[in-house]
Amino acid sequence: MARLLITGASGLLGLNLALDAMTSHEVIGVDRGRLKSAPFRTVHADLLAGDAAERLLDATQPDWLIHCAALADLEACEADPELARQINTDVPSALAKACVARAVQMVQVSTDAVFDGAKAGGYLEEDEPHAVNVYSQTKLAAERAVLDANPNAIVARVNFYGWSLSGRRSLAEFFHHNLINNKSMSGYTDAVFCPTHVTHLGQTLQAMLTKKLHGLYHVVGSQGMSKYQFGVELAHKFGLDDREISPKSILSSGLIARRSNNLMLSTHKLSTDLGASLPDFSTGLDLFYTQYQEGYPQKIHAFLQ
Ligand SMILES: NC(=O)c1ccc[n+]([C@@H]2O[C@H](COP(=O)([O-])OP(=O)(O)OC[C@H]3O[C@@H](n4cnc5c(N)ncnc54)[C@H](OP(=O)(O)O)[C@@H]3O)[C@@H](O)[C@H]2O)c1
Repeated sequence: MARLLITGASGLLGLNLALDAMTSHEVIGVDRGRLKSAPFRTVHADLLAGDAAERLLDATQPDWLIHCAALADLEACEADPELARQINTDVPSALAKACVARAVQMVQVSTDAVFDGAKAGGYLEEDEPHAVNVYSQTKLAAERAVLDANPNAIVARVNFYGWSLSGRRSLAEFFHHNLINNKSMSGYTDAVFCPTHVTHLGQTLQAMLTKKLHGLYHVVGSQGMSKYQFGVELAHKFGLDDREISPKSILSSGLIARRSNNLMLSTHKLSTDLGASLPDFSTGLDLFYTQYQEGYPQKIHAFLQ
């Protein structure tokens, strides 16, 4: 059993990771006060405050750190690039240095969005990234800062869906919410990604730490699909009417932050080094559905009270 410190424990990844990891590890979640009744230990910290990285590690003495906190809203990053740089680049850089000094194994959660989407086919870890918006530029700068300071860290490029505290954080929740309310919505046909269930991602990150991997890894689902197709698959799983989802081009989205249209990543390196692959897409969607049937969204929502 390891002592695992998780930043962003109120976020989509941090919370689901903490709930899964607490069954086999001692979990400490870092939170800014949103979590009122989490079933794991929490510590309050604003990661932008002074020497937060050192103080947090000294106070909690973890074996592992999975750094999930970020400004992960692409439009918010465009609106405030300085804040985006501080939270997305400076904070992981400081954590990486603090982890080296204390021999803490660190995972920096990065993003598939470091690529511009120009490649036909799946991106490899050796492919040169080209970040096309403030969010991805700050995340790419973090990858470099973390591995420069701490070559033993893991940098994991991810993309995931699942149930969140707010009920609105993930693409799957967007489709599900609109579909059950019979609201029409758009699904982008020319934005391709490799969706991963957040719990499967969290389990894989723990397995990577257990195996003492280090360096850059693509940690996404093995099946690429458009965001439109993802919505349709979700509608079918829940027995909902997929005709509410209109196929649309991302070029006409009206979003400010530029998006890449091909974010398919190869996970060959991960499956070779880990000796295992992430569960396939249908297993992840089954889990998302089963969690809904079992009241998981309500269960996590109660942590706000
Ligand atoms: N969602 C995706 O599909 C996706 C795709 C690719 C990569 N990622 C990456 O995955 C990671 C997790 O993303 P997510 O979707 O789980 O994010 P999220 O739901 O937006 O959660 C962000 C977390 O960061 C915390 N945070 C922000 N500023 C902080 C600060 N100054 N001090 C302490 N905590 C702070 C937030 O706390 P509050 O609740 O207090 O605001 C929240 O817990 C991020 O690194 C993101 O870049 C996400």
